[in-house]
Amino acid sequence: MANEAIPNLTAFDEAALGKAFAALEAQAREAAAVLDGEAAVEAFRLEWLGRKQGRLNEVSGRWLKAAPPEAKKALGVRFNALKAVVEDLLDAALGGGPGDATADAALRAEAIDITLPGTRRLTGAEHPIPRTMNEIVAVFAALGYSVGVGPEVETDYYNFESMNFPPEHPARDTQDTLVVANQERKPLRDRLLLRTHTSPVQMRTMEQQPPPVRIVIPGKVHRNDAADATHSPIFHQVEGLCVDTNITFSDLKGTLDYAMKALFGSSVKTRFFPSFFPFTEPSADVQISCIFCGGKGCRKCKDSGWIELLGCGMVDPAVFAFAAEKQPAYDSRKISGFAFGMGVERIAMMKYGISEIGSFFAGDMRFLGQFA
Ligand code: PHE
Repeated sequence: MANEAIPNLTAFDEAALGKAFAALEAQAREAAAVLDGEAAVEAFRLEWLGRKQGRLNEVSGRWLKAAPPEAKKALGVRFNALKAVVEDLLDAALGGGPGDATADAALRAEAIDITLPGTRRLTGAEHPIPRTMNEIVAVFAALGYSVGVGPEVETDYYNFESMNFPPEHPARDTQDTLVVANQERKPLRDRLLLRTHTSPVQMRTMEQQPPPVRIVIPGKVHRNDAADATHSPIFHQVEGLCVDTNITFSDLKGTLDYAMKALFGSSVKTRFFPSFFPFTEPSADVQISCIFCGGKGCRKCKDSGWIELLGCGMVDPAVFAFAAEKQPAYDSRKISGFAFGMGVERIAMMKYGISEIGSFFAGDMRFLGQFA
């Protein structure tokens, strides 16, 4: 083993330092290359890194002390580099006898430690709104309904006029919304707005196909409603439309009664209250027996035993008349139909016992994670 004593340094310029440290490094490499057996490795360690007599200790003691202040920094840098080389050499020797010290160290740095815990990948979960929407759609799909969609930015014609809300009609006030700016030069019917309900897709569907029609329309809608625990200016609906010969109000009742039982459980009862929508006549609000108290009366149903859930009715002949402009087969003397529309958030809130509609849109993982 090379075992020259550490010479005294007299010059401390870059060149002298470079030469002195290179010589030491060469000695260390030479010694490390022939290490053979545990005892030799330990001797190498003591010789170079030993706390008291080690060569590196001596270098730092003698060279560093003798160095003029301006050379101390350069000397320190070289010292640390040499120390790293010696430590690598020792690591390599401990790891598996002679070898290329730096390559061995690199390999070990890359090695996989199979005892470390893995990286947990979070599994995604369907958001409760699309999930509920899909559930509702599936109930009707099983009855032979297909799925339709339409644009969220809708014309006044489809959202209002063809749904029998004439211009200036007060019923429009019940569905105030955002309208696209600077459209005054366009005729009213072509002006764009954010749709207030999914009903315009009734008309778009009828214009595309003659009867019979059985379709459900899931989608996002917008209204100028102040947000509170149960209202949000953006929400979702599932619309339904059934048109054929001899469709009656009892078909409507039977279909919705079946759908509510499929969604909320077979013990749920339904009842129909007279209501008004411009596009259906007669119109009804559907209530279901309170799923929280079974109809006995509780806080959720305001002690009435019933919860109002959706709007529906027989398609108004005026709506068929608009459809007949493109598809003459929508002749209200020959065909009839029913339509319904339900709020998805409201149904999801009931199904999952959620009291704040805002929870759906807040993006809080503690809330959403419950649906995983
Ligand atoms: N479009 C109505 C609403 O948003 C709901 C509805 C749809 C009522 C179809 C009757 C028939 O309030």
